[in-house]
Amino acid sequence: MVPEAHLLDTAEGLWICLGLEDSAWLRERVPSFGPLLQRAREARGRAHAPYSGFAVGSAVLMDGTVVVGCNVENASYGATLCAERTAIATAVAAGKRSLELIAISTSAAPEADLTGRTPCGLCRQVMGEFASDKTLVLLDAGTGSAGRPRAEVIAFETLLPWRFRL
Ligand code: THU
Repeated sequence: MVPEAHLLDTAEGLWICLGLEDSAWLRERVPSFGPLLQRAREARGRAHAPYSGFAVGSAVLMDGTVVVGCNVENASYGATLCAERTAIATAVAAGKRSLELIAISTSAAPEADLTGRTPCGLCRQVMGEFASDKTLVLLDAGTGSAGRPRAEVIAFETLLPWRFRL
């Protein structure tokens, strides 16, 4: 079930907030949404997805730094790397640990059901390793009025409540 939405209509983008209360910290993060989404879209253009034809790009903001990833498929299908995990692993290897924001852009049509644009279960668990109760996930929803980018914005906790931890 998709949680209740409210729209943050800004000059830089249309942000469809799902199940999110309007808060000072949400507003603090809004200026990062457009640039991060743009980086995810660019990374999608570099996806290696010859088997599925489904390209995914991701950009993470971790400890104030943006790092990108794309899906990297393999002839032995199971060795495929998802875009989100590629971005997170690259950021972690650079010494980053705190996942503040993650933007995801896929080949799915923006008007398609959300399920084609949300991260897979494996990626959610990996995101959870570095997420906090303030981590936000942006799902590319194409272009809105006046050519502005659109995205759903959802708290990570909503995507993976009660996750496994040690
Ligand atoms: N994929 C991702 O990159 N992220 C996800 O969260 C879901 C799936 C990729 C894996 C594969 O290359 C293609 O999308 C189709 O599943």
